Order: sequence, then structure tokens, then C-alpha cells
Amino acid sequence: MRTADGSHTLSWGQEHYHSVHGAVQESTHVFIKAGLEHVAKAHVDVLEVGLGTGLNLLLTWIRCLEGKLTATYHALEPYPLAAATLDELRHAEDLAWPGLHAPFMELMTGPCDAWGDALGGLRFQVSRTDVRAFGATEAFDVIYFDAFAPGYQPDLWSEAVFSRMFAALRPGGVLVTYCAKGDVRRAMQAAGFSVERLPGPPGKREMLRATRPR
Ligand SMILES: C[S@@+](CC[C@H](N)C(=O)[O-])C[C@H]1O[C@@H](n2cnc3c(N)ncnc32)[C@H](O)[C@@H]1O
Repeated sequence: MRTADGSHTLSWGQEHYHSVHGAVQESTHVFIKAGLEHVAKAHVDVLEVGLGTGLNLLLTWIRCLEGKLTATYHALEPYPLAAATLDELRHAEDLAWPGLHAPFMELMTGPCDAWGDALGGLRFQVSRTDVRAFGATEAFDVIYFDAFAPGYQPDLWSEAVFSRMFAALRPGGVLVTYCAKGDVRRAMQAAGFSVERLPGPPGKREMLRATRPR
């Protein structure tokens, strides 16, 4: 389906992969501006929870191609989309980078658990690991927490999962998400995060940024 900013997304039952108010606007606002650009490092280690259609990957990759940073990008996705579905979405065209469509498809449909080098200083790996079983220690600067909404998958927005995310971040690292629910904020705080409510993207009043204290 087409969203309000002209870019495309998919639905899963009642859930959408992105905001219907604008997929690119939401991803740029929440994950790129409030997360990737906020950490302001020349090299950023990114963890994404829920690779889905790969829009956040593509937006990050474009920042690398523009020479703004280099990145390693580790994505979790237990339920990968079919190649034909990704092909039809044409995210690279929505972002005015049509030449990236073929290399993007290669990244998205490549083997799991293997680091691949893309153009522009991005290294990418996708794992089928469920976030509830993911373990890493002080390995990431930013986490794009892009799971389906808590009403749909409440156990992904729990203190137990946020404790795993806290351990995976370096001190000073941030987790960003489109969700601003009070229960979610409190679960993040219980896991040790210091949490800010920030203005949300079009159609959403607020979003959350959780920082692991130094
Ligand atoms: C809102 S969508 C992600 C949108 C995506 N970031 C994009 O740009 O298209 C949520 C994603 O979380 C994935 N997911 C569902 N259960 C999960 C789990 N237990 N661990 C990690 N990811 C999960 C879904 O398959 C789906 O792709």
C-alpha cells in the first residue's frame, strides 16, 4: 500500500510495517535522525529488531553512500519477506536511488548469519534470531527497535527484552522506537535505561529514545 508521503509499506493482518502517515518520513524521523545521527560517530554499529522490508537498512546505507559515516548493520528477522514481495515494494525508487534496487535485493535475499560488504562502507548481516533470545554485550551504538506494536506482540516490549537490549548497547548507546506507550517506557526504565519522550513523526505525538547511561 502507498502511505501519505508517497512511499510504500505492507500490512500483516491489522499491523503495518510502517506508519500509514508516511513510511519514509517515519523511518527517517525515528531511526535515522533520533538514533543514527544522534550518536554522531564516524563509524556506527547498528542493531535492528525487525528488518521487515529493509527500509531502515536502505536509509542507513544511503547515509553511508553519501559519505556521512560507515556502519555495521546487524538485523534480526525471524519471518523474512519473500523476494517477490520486496521486489514489488521498490523502496530504492521511493528514495530516488533506483540504481540501488538490485544491490539492495542482493543484500536482503543473501545468506543468513554471514557478513557481506556493500558499497559505501556498510557491512550487513541478518539473523533469524528472535529478539527474546538475542544476546550480545556492549556491541552496538544504536538499536532500531522496530517490532510490531505492543498490543500485537506484548512480550517483545517487556523488561526482559529491554534488559537484553541494554546489555547489547555500549554505555552512551541509544535505543529508538516509534512507540511512546507508558508501559513500554516503564519497562525500559526498569531495565536501566534513561528514557526521553521526543516529538514523534507526522501522525504521532511522541516517540521514545532510551539511553544506556555511561
Ligand atoms: C514493524 S515491522 C518492521 C519494519 C521494518 N523495520 C521495515 O523497515 O520494513 C516488525 C518486524 O518485526 C519482525 N518480528 C516479529 N517477531 C519478531 C521477533 N520475535 N524478533 C525479531 N523480529 C520480529 C516481523 O517479522 C517484522 O518484520
